[in-house]
Amino acid sequence: MNEIARQLGIRYPIIQGGMGNASNAILAAAVSNAGGLGMIGAGTMSPEEVERIIVDTKQRTSCPFGVNIAINVSPYVNEIIQLIIKHGVKAVSLSAGNPAPYIPLLKEHGITILSVAASVLHARKAESAGADMIVGEGYEAAGINSHLETTTFALIPQLADAVRIPIIAAGGIGDGRGLAAALALGASGVQMGTRLIATKESMMHEHYIASIIESHDFSTKIIGKSVNQVRRVLPTPYVEHILQLEKEGLTAEQYRKLTAEKYHVKAAVEGKLGEGFINSGQISGLIQDVPSVEALIQTMAADAIKKINEVQSLLK
Ligand SMILES: Cc1cc2nc3c(=O)[nH]c(=O)nc-3n(C[C@H](O)[C@H](O)[C@H](O)COP(=O)(O)O)c2cc1C
Repeated sequence: MNEIARQLGIRYPIIQGGMGNASNAILAAAVSNAGGLGMIGAGTMSPEEVERIIVDTKQRTSCPFGVNIAINVSPYVNEIIQLIIKHGVKAVSLSAGNPAPYIPLLKEHGITILSVAASVLHARKAESAGADMIVGEGYEAAGINSHLETTTFALIPQLADAVRIPIIAAGGIGDGRGLAAALALGASGVQMGTRLIATKESMMHEHYIASIIESHDFSTKIIGKSVNQVRRVLPTPYVEHILQLEKEGLTAEQYRKLTAEKYHVKAAVEGKLGEGFINSGQISGLIQDVPSVEALIQTMAADAIKKINEVQSLLK
């Protein structure tokens, strides 16, 4: 059996990427009910907000789900870990920071630890610290990104050679072909963000979903490169403003303020594209429809199996 599916107690090795401040129970429960692993993104939310979503998710699914904590983003890492323990949440994904200090307590409570890494070095460190799985995230991915710029296609086989724990590929995966490719590269599963935004159960604003559908293969922009805080987004008037400020020599502190999570909420959840930014990965160009999460996951799994069988004939 697939090691990721076995450890997490899920049917398909398909994980919802944490989406900070834009998570709700409906989407996380839909992913879990469809056989994947739903993931609540804690972002900068207060422990009370996170607890409300955990409780709501538990009411909507009896299947396992997880919580993502972006370590250098959340002011409440320890409080949220206590909530995860209290509510018996199956899995935690730790990103954007050093996971090592948090791993022993999580392990003590039998919680499966996914650690997000964009390099072999960080994956090895997370493995040594006791993480159960590595989410290998390439530069194609939506949102906060690594300045190292290694793409998923190059990263995953290198991670597969470097660590013994299972790998989940993230960044640029949106259909069964992406799933099949990730497995062929040495991953045991995939994590998706952008593709799940354009689903029936997504609570993102219709302007955000429309921007994804209208985008093409090179629509996404990188902001924050000049201050070494890289983020992949779709162009909005607000993003153009940030890019202009970067040309004029924006400081890291000014950039951090302009990209506070509240500006993602403004555009992504409230639909005010002039007042904020919307995270998106390069795979947005592939996305043409808004299926239910269940239909998406079923189709991906079936298409991946078909694709894996088909490609064999290309080498015979
Ligand atoms: C709206 C949005 C918010 C995100 N927020 C987070 C976050 O809080 N923590 C995190 O680890 N990753 C975050 N990500 C990245 C996803 O978890 C995921 O790894 C990434 O989207 C995968 O690449 P893809 O978009 O090409 O599927 C976010 C992605 C999106 C689309």
